[in-house]
Amino acid sequence: MIFKYLTKLKVNQNLLLNPGMAKTCKKCVETCGVGKLEPSVLKELNEAFEKLSTSDSKSLLKKYLTADVFKSIVNKKTSFGSTLLDCIQSGVANLDSSVGLYAPDTEAYNVFAELFNPVIEEYHLNFTKDDSQPPVNFGNTNCMADLDPKGTFIVSTRVRCGRSLAKYPLNPCMTEEHYIKLEEEVKCALGNLTGELGGDYLPLKGMSKITQKKLIDDHFLFAEGDRFLQAAKASRFWPTGRGIFLNDAKTFVVWVNEEDHMRIISLQKGGDLGQVYKRFVKGVEELGSQLTFARDERLGYLTFCPTNIGTGIRASVHIKVPKLAADESVLHAVAKKYNLQVRGTGGEHTSAQDGVYDISNKRRLGLSEYDVVREMQDGIMEIIKEEKSKSD
Ligand code: ADP
Ligand code: ARG
Repeated sequence: MIFKYLTKLKVNQNLLLNPGMAKTCKKCVETCGVGKLEPSVLKELNEAFEKLSTSDSKSLLKKYLTADVFKSIVNKKTSFGSTLLDCIQSGVANLDSSVGLYAPDTEAYNVFAELFNPVIEEYHLNFTKDDSQPPVNFGNTNCMADLDPKGTFIVSTRVRCGRSLAKYPLNPCMTEEHYIKLEEEVKCALGNLTGELGGDYLPLKGMSKITQKKLIDDHFLFAEGDRFLQAAKASRFWPTGRGIFLNDAKTFVVWVNEEDHMRIISLQKGGDLGQVYKRFVKGVEELGSQLTFARDERLGYLTFCPTNIGTGIRASVHIKVPKLAADESVLHAVAKKYNLQVRGTGGEHTSAQDGVYDISNKRRLGLSEYDVVREMQDGIMEIIKEEKSKSD
């Protein structure tokens, strides 16, 4: 009776008995989850499927949530009590999503694999259900180049990765206490960083709107009010537990409890990917020696959004390529040719300002950390060549 009630509350019994510990029950996951789906959830799921399937949404969610797949996974639950509704609610509320799917907890990738696998395969460019993420390999950190030594095209360079802490659930399953404890734990690890990486943690709670706006405008801090995250129940208790760490030179940044438990970021003005990558690897390794990140044998690092699993790395440049960008569809086509993705100046779901585009690797899964960043480096070099070769 009590367990039935707890399941209804979407609280994993393991978490209640041992807060902060997300325990995976392998047997339950394999035999399609724990507990029975409440009739109200089933009703909502049927309505959601009807809305999605009759819409003209271009999302990967719509493409791969076929009637057969829906029928096969609609009644499943993870041991955290997460349902298919928790995975798809953002994409249903936001029919303009490009992906539309999130993992409410790390088990969801297995329990709802029939939906996650094809979405992952298409987003990460042919990573099939039989493929596995290679072991972590940052390669030789001296091997990345300065992509624009004369400073003609590249305004700034950034490499980030998403990380989840293994012992906490993901956003929709987190309690307010989880957010507070996780922030404390990460703050403590960040406090041990020294030298070039040493700096200060600024909690979002209590931060003045002026400071917040300046940090966002300067491309250091995450924006607020992302409707995709809100609909995925990833913004509860905001701003509790959220914050940003900045090293003294503002070249190493860590976001806490935004979309992911952590986003570890290295950035600087200009095109010197070599310096940015070196600092990034140092930061990730130092934090990884203090904290245990959630990692799956097949899918690599596990994050809230299936687009960020694997290496979790997005390596980008802010770049001006006015000739190629004269027709944005040309720029997008050129980027696609090199497996790259184009975003606006303010990040995802924004447009370009003053001709500055954010171009980054698209896939983060199926290749090593080193190869992911190389994919961006090689593609950007080609794009610069193409820009140069275009006559005025
Ligand atoms: P993420 O990279 O974490 O997925 P966004 O696309 O939302 O998230 O971008 C977050 C912030 O990082 C935005 O302010 C964006 O302008 C900034 N950003 C991304 N790439 C660069 C870059 N190469 N140089 C400077 N800022 C960047
Ligand atoms: N859910 C959003 C969409 O489908 C974002 C997907 C990728 N971006 C992200 N920040 N996880 O459009």
